[in-house]
Amino acid sequence: MSLIYNVTKAFPQEEIYEITAQIRRSAISVASNIAEGSSRISVKEQKRYYEIAFSNATECLNQLIISNDLGYIENHALLTFRENISRITYSLNKLKSSLDSKLTVSEPSEEYKPKSTSLNPINPISPINLAKENPELIQTIGYTFHYTALIDNDSEIGEGTKIWHFSHIMPHCKIGKNCNIGQNVVVSPEVILGNNVKVQNNVSIYTGVTCDDDVFLGPSCVFTNVVNPRSAVNRRGQYSKTHVGQGASIGANATIVCGHDIGKFAFIGAGAVVTKHIPDYALAVGNPAKQMGWMSEYGHRLKFDDKGEATCIKSGDAYILKDKNVHKVGE
Ligand SMILES: CC(C)(COP(=O)(O)OP(=O)(O)OC[C@H]1O[C@@H](n2cnc3c(N)ncnc32)[C@H](O)[C@@H]1OP(=O)(O)O)[C@@H](O)C(=O)NCCC(=O)NCCS
Repeated sequence: MSLIYNVTKAFPQEEIYEITAQIRRSAISVASNIAEGSSRISVKEQKRYYEIAFSNATECLNQLIISNDLGYIENHALLTFRENISRITYSLNKLKSSLDSKLTVSEPSEEYKPKSTSLNPINPISPINLAKENPELIQTIGYTFHYTALIDNDSEIGEGTKIWHFSHIMPHCKIGKNCNIGQNVVVSPEVILGNNVKVQNNVSIYTGVTCDDDVFLGPSCVFTNVVNPRSAVNRRGQYSKTHVGQGASIGANATIVCGHDIGKFAFIGAGAVVTKHIPDYALAVGNPAKQMGWMSEYGHRLKFDDKGEATCIKSGDAYILKDKNVHKVGE
């Protein structure tokens, strides 16, 4: 509600009795009808109020879209409202379904036919619909998130990206297209992830981390961003940076001590503790991580001959090792 009031405060004066008042009224009505419904004893009456609250929510969304068209609110603010309203309409749908089941048992009535009255979050312009096959997913304009995920304001999230249960995307992050953010993941402010980045469950990606396209972050791997943390000393703003190059993979439970970059297509074994820069295509394991060989882009060990040449056994791509650096032939 405070967000609605704050945003509409900046609307032109001439709108004070027009769209400003309408948006505020419909937002208040959502909350009031939910409150009113919850105080009713009759299941039928409860349901009626939740249906009205649902209509108020979609009305409010429609007015916000119009305000965006008129240039009164920014695109990112509209996106935040869309997400919040999707969550509300999703919860109202759930409430309604649970009341429907009570009605079938105790108050069978012609008036209430669960299928024909089924509510769907509607968006008059863009497709904000609950994903049909999985009603727990919420589809925004471009990306999809589970309804338990938290997405803060002012983050950019690319088309086709999916964000799963209990994950938290904090402000000012940039997440590319077609990424998969697993369960219980935290993406801290200002983190940048490229396209097609796969983040497995329980990963925290802290401020200062940037990952290029096609990076794989294994389950429970750990980034750090302060080298000498002390609870009583505030080191905010002194974060060390960690860059993970294109196509690199970090194994399960690996720890990356901050300030060390992972080269492109490098491979960090499960449980490794990285304390130095890892070159492109290097395979590093152990604590502290030591390089045990080289890995192809396709994810297979490269065995270099005396001339410093190797071929990936699966892709057939050729690689050259020169001056302790590997590069793919033709690039
Ligand atoms: C690093 C890795 C790719 C090596 O695989 P590999 O080439 O098949 O290596 P091998 O299993 O033949 O092991 C070679 C040697 O390295 C050791 N080794 C392998 N992985 C290791 C690791 N993560 N840490 C420490 N040592 C490791 C082996 O014990 C073996 O040692 P030895 O020669 O003394 O017996 C693999 O073990 C690994 O860690 N993969 C990451 C898995 C993961 O985290 N997946 C996440 C998605 S589920």
